[in-house]
Amino acid sequence: MNNTANVWTGARRRIHLQEVGPRDGLQMESVFVPTADKIALIDALSAAGLAKIEATAFVSPQAIPALRDAEIVLREIARMPGVVYTCLVPNLRGAERAIEAKADELNLVMSASETHNLANLRMTRDQSFAALSEVIVLARQAGVEVNASLSCAFGCPMEGEVPPTVVLDWAVRFAAAGARGITLCDTTGMAYPTQVAQLVRDFHARLPGTELTLHFHNTRGMGLSNVLASIDAGADRFDASLGGLGGCPYAPGASGNVCTEEIVHALELMDYDTGCDLPLLLQAAARLPGLTGHDVPSQIVKAGRRLDLHAPPADFALWRERALARAAASTATLADRTQSLR
Ligand code: COA
Ligand code: ZN
Repeated sequence: MNNTANVWTGARRRIHLQEVGPRDGLQMESVFVPTADKIALIDALSAAGLAKIEATAFVSPQAIPALRDAEIVLREIARMPGVVYTCLVPNLRGAERAIEAKADELNLVMSASETHNLANLRMTRDQSFAALSEVIVLARQAGVEVNASLSCAFGCPMEGEVPPTVVLDWAVRFAAAGARGITLCDTTGMAYPTQVAQLVRDFHARLPGTELTLHFHNTRGMGLSNVLASIDAGADRFDASLGGLGGCPYAPGASGNVCTEEIVHALELMDYDTGCDLPLLLQAAARLPGLTGHDVPSQIVKAGRRLDLHAPPADFALWRERALARAAASTATLADRTQSLR
């Protein structure tokens, strides 16, 4: 970053956007989205220029029935060169399945909050970490990259504040165990901009060489503000979900991720380079209500882009004619009055 760079001036800086809709989005849906539709969705996202796509999760099909077709999805998507297809993995069984299915990356998950880890993964954090450390060894032997996601990194809906030192200590342990990147997840939208900026700075101070991703949910309307606060603090990699779908079924009050097309729309206006094709994203997002059976949170799907103009009202020509006639009449009256005053 040069001296004059600040968050308000994108100056074509690259921001890496990682799509999590097919996993974080669809895991929350009560309907089972047909496998062929999931594959078409991922293929559309690949074409739209996302840097990384979380295609599915290798979790227990009892825990997350919506993603019980993980193997088929990963086998049948068209892999776009340069796009990393990552998969969420909670345990060794999940890792074996994901490696067998040729995932490019395993996204390991555990929570920075003990209560949420027990609710979501039915293990203590120490048990999760022990299992995931074995997974890292396995993945590295198989030549597969590993990212570690820490849920509830900005607060837990059941415990409240999660101390930043606790979050960073887990991040340091995962990095030492061999994770290439760490994602700090705001699972239920508790993060706020000043907190986010501080944690990003502290992360970079403690783990300067480790790739950092921020994963925000828009639960309390602070998603875009948190993205901008992170960029200001030096981050350049974000998870987002098409249509703003998403949420963890094991975290009370969870709702949608920050919305991919909203973030792309805002950042491109601010002259950032997201590498994404907004019209293609919007085409894919427009199909989501048909897949999920409900409206999606995306404001851009509802309102269109800033310069998607609307036609004036049907009787616009008549209004203009009347307005111009009134203006002409009042100019004439004014001229008469001025005349009579002389
Ligand atoms: N993939 C497929 N099946 C799995 C699995 C995996 N990764 N992990 C466990 N299982 C199966 C076991 O084989 C076992 O099946 P069986 O009853 O037919 O023998 C069953 O699930 C229970 O296994 P167990 O090891 O006792 O796990 P658990 O019941 O304690 O569940 C998790 C722990 C983590 C596997 C499970 O809760 C889970 O997958 N959660 C997903 C959480 C999630 O994705 N949350 C949202 C994203 S943050
Ligand atoms: Zn999430």
